Amino acid sequence: MQIANNNTRAIRNRYNRIAPFYDFMEDLVEKTLYRKWRKLLWSKVEGNKILEIGVGTGNNIPYYPVNAEITAIDFSERMLGHAIEKAKKQGLIIDLQPMDVQNLTFEDDTFDTAVATFVFCSVPDPKKGLREIARVCKPGGRILLLEHVLSANRIVASFMNLVNPMVVRTMGVNINRRTVENVTESGIKIENVTELAAGIFKLIEASKTGSYSENVKTSINSDNRS
Ligand SMILES: C[S@@+](CC[C@H](N)C(=O)[O-])C[C@H]1O[C@@H](n2cnc3c(N)ncnc32)[C@H](O)[C@@H]1O
Repeated sequence: MQIANNNTRAIRNRYNRIAPFYDFMEDLVEKTLYRKWRKLLWSKVEGNKILEIGVGTGNNIPYYPVNAEITAIDFSERMLGHAIEKAKKQGLIIDLQPMDVQNLTFEDDTFDTAVATFVFCSVPDPKKGLREIARVCKPGGRILLLEHVLSANRIVASFMNLVNPMVVRTMGVNINRRTVENVTESGIKIENVTELAAGIFKLIEASKTGSYSENVKTSINSDNRS
């Protein structure tokens, strides 16, 4: 697996460290909120060739469409190990691979839909990862993201910005990402954003537009200017 840089390596190591406790730590939110949001997201998946980015311990596996050809990646081998176990227990054949979303090894225009749930809060260079997802999606392909983002409420946002460095150090998660804006700035067309909770949790439905290479050039140029 090609790892982009030391920062990426550090975040990957944090996920390797928390992998044994991850499902336990998430149990309450998983049961009360995430399960229904996962179900909603997977109801919007289209096509047969599906890519899941940042599969983690495999909490989306129960929602994979029957008969779809699923490829799932994660840069944390230990998180991936749990996903492999879950897939085996359910008797599912899934192509699970260690891979960094910032350096996907898939050919251009491969997948009908790409899914990521609670991943772009951690990817060190989120726009690079999003551009890679768009590259490997077919033209018109769907990109579905379940994410928590920085609150639009100024007081809440100030608190999130204040505690973010501590959360990144312990968990590898940023709680102040602007993922909706990052998607647009990566040359990906947003079709719908569903507000799920507290102005923080969102389901982002997007698609790869036909003129992707032009969009990417514009996106990279705007990154260089900022
Ligand atoms: C908060 S967990 C979410 C796991 C799973 N998607 C879920 O919904 O339960 C974030 C996952 O994204 C993975 N991840 C973060 N950055 C990544 C990257 N650059 N490339 C691949 N996986 C990444 C982490 O290893 C971790 O498994």
